[in-house]
Amino acid sequence: MKKTMIKDQLNRPLRDLRISVIDRCNFRCQYCMPAEIFGPDFAFLPKSELLTFEEIFRVANIFVKLGVEKIRLTGGEPLLRADLPELVKMLSTIEGLKDIALTTNGVLLPKLAHRLKDAGLKRVNISLDSLNDKVFGIINGRNVKVKPVLKGIEAARKSGLGIKINMVVKKGLNDAEILSMADFCKQEGLELRFIEFMDVGHTNGWRMDDVITKKQIYDILKEKYDLEAMEPAYFGEVAKKYRYKGTDILVGFITSVSESFCKSCTRARLSANGKLYTCLFNGNGYDIRDFIRNGATDEQLQERIVNIWNNRKDRYSDERTEETAALRKKIEMSFIGG
Ligand code: GTP
Ligand code: 5AD
Ligand code: SF4
Ligand code: SF4
Repeated sequence: MKKTMIKDQLNRPLRDLRISVIDRCNFRCQYCMPAEIFGPDFAFLPKSELLTFEEIFRVANIFVKLGVEKIRLTGGEPLLRADLPELVKMLSTIEGLKDIALTTNGVLLPKLAHRLKDAGLKRVNISLDSLNDKVFGIINGRNVKVKPVLKGIEAARKSGLGIKINMVVKKGLNDAEILSMADFCKQEGLELRFIEFMDVGHTNGWRMDDVITKKQIYDILKEKYDLEAMEPAYFGEVAKKYRYKGTDILVGFITSVSESFCKSCTRARLSANGKLYTCLFNGNGYDIRDFIRNGATDEQLQERIVNIWNNRKDRYSDERTEETAALRKKIEMSFIGG
């Protein structure tokens, strides 16, 4: 396939597309979908508003033509979207797409991992913030224990999917478990990424004071382990990675707050209702869904995406302060998929 490479205002190419396939989740993680706000009466998107698989496939094809090499499916919890392996199968036929991945809380993997792998999924990033049932239950807001996630990890492993573990670290909540999570993942041969708590959306009560930075975590790990810095695996990789000396096991840090990485941000985000966002922290989405439902041709759609990307100048994390965190119009994490 002939690709047309496009650049934004800060000279960044378009390489990754994160597609949220559903805004619902079976968890209520307090840093993402606090249960007090996302309660029984919360109005989630009705099915008619979600992009269909055919629509996602059509849009994805155009993104790949414009330089996208990796598609990551997100949610909410993407495994709640009915027949997700069907979508993966469709996407895996796109010529020029090198990687299809998924970010999940893991509990539905025992049911779906095999089918996803067979459909062409390559990797899963599984969130796990604690190994302590009580702490984990409080974080996930639904009292889900650790075991179901461990079973999900096992299922992914058995299916041959690549696995990374994501741990969001929040002061006073799970920072006492930094070392035990590192020990556990190292022992299991799993790549763990520590994620700085971010001010996504307006509902998670973010304060700079609650952030545990990469440096703080690194210093804890350094006391026990020898770590070797690694080069990024690809341009624009989000995590800064290290290797436990003498092993091939990696550990990473996602440092949106303490060391922003906007300079190499190659990511576009498509919400479940078909809006295109040029930054995780930019609340203005560009409609794609109605544009195609109203009969736009592929050429018109491509032109629209090119225009949006060419005009992009987001670099929110570079500019973040307590003030921007409170005042910017943002989108919720569960809506845009992280
Ligand atoms: P791979 O590198 O492909 O394995 O995935 P990833 O780390 O890009 O994706 P994942 O969904 O696992 O995200 C991990 C964390 O990084 C989540 O907290 C995301 O919100 C965060 N993240 C991903 N992309 C960005 C970004 O462009 N900006 C910021 N600030 N955070 C991001
Ligand atoms: N800050 C940092 N990471 C977050 N995630 C969800 N909310 C936040 C937040 N406020 C993470 C999830 C998941 C990924 C998609 O984003 O734990 O691993
Ligand atoms: Fe659900 Fe993931 Fe958000 Fe937790 S972080 S509420 S699992 S979407
Ligand atoms: Fe990209 Fe926005 Fe994240 Fe910066 S804050 S890395 S521009 S998504």
